[in-house]
Amino acid sequence: MSTLLEAEHLTKIFTQRGKESFKAVDDVSFTLKPGETLGIVGESGSGKSTLAKMITRLTDITEGTLKFEGKDITRLKHNQLKDVYGNIQMVFQNPVGSFDPRRTLGDGIGESLRNRGMKKADIEKRVAELLEQCGLSSEFAKRYPHEVSGGQCQRAAIARALAVEPKVLICDEATSALDVTIQKQIMELLEELKEKHGLSFIFICHNLALVQMFCDRVLVLYEGKVVESGLPDDIINEPKQAYTRKLVDAVFL
Ligand SMILES: Nc1ncnc2c1ncn2[C@@H]1O[C@H](COP(=O)(O)OP(=O)(O)OP(=O)(O)O)[C@@H](O)[C@H]1O
Ligand SMILES: [Mg+2]
Repeated sequence: MSTLLEAEHLTKIFTQRGKESFKAVDDVSFTLKPGETLGIVGESGSGKSTLAKMITRLTDITEGTLKFEGKDITRLKHNQLKDVYGNIQMVFQNPVGSFDPRRTLGDGIGESLRNRGMKKADIEKRVAELLEQCGLSSEFAKRYPHEVSGGQCQRAAIARALAVEPKVLICDEATSALDVTIQKQIMELLEELKEKHGLSFIFICHNLALVQMFCDRVLVLYEGKVVESGLPDDIINEPKQAYTRKLVDAVFL
């Protein structure tokens, strides 16, 4: 099986004027194969979102190499990133905040299609299809973000990410704002999309039980570094690091 994403020694250093520089992601390497789900866990501030934004190239990479389908995308400039955004999409932590409150969900979901020059009638049809794929009726296209529940908004955010037919979908604690039943429903939706469309996932999460259920492999991040990686069952049953043990205990005790 070929490799979809290949990250080698990724490092992110934030420099702010008048302050010491800060290494938020430190020498992280991993690969992602087609159809695979990689989990990233770690305590708050361990660098998960920063790493996700590096992979989607929403933030610059200080050091290391990132390849997508064998092509080096580490240093692509703004006008060269269109292909990356078409292939690697991200669903953010806070679904309601990620939609423009003044525009309907349908507008938000269809935006990338409009940018690609798709005709209005075709966009409407495609938006309806995407909503239905994500378990919402096409009627939701007319609603505003404040007119739907958190779980429904999350589904709309996933529909929006899928609009460009990406190969990799990164979910950044996409389910953490929701209660456990809805979280599970959303995960089942993602699983279904994975089977139907052969999507690959990077799933960022605090909840190790969800990681165990849905991920093929997992990276444990601590202070920007990968302290452990492997099969979820192995990591949960036999954590090698005290830090991982703490994460496991926080969920299962
Ligand atoms: N733009 C920035 N400038 C400076 N420091 C930043 C910036 N963005 C993030 N950081 C710092 O980098 C570290 C990692 O942040 P990040 O958001 O990646 O953590 P996280 O693992 O996603 O945490 P959480 O679970 O709370 O979402 C934190 O210490 C954070 O304060
Ligand atoms: Mg985060």
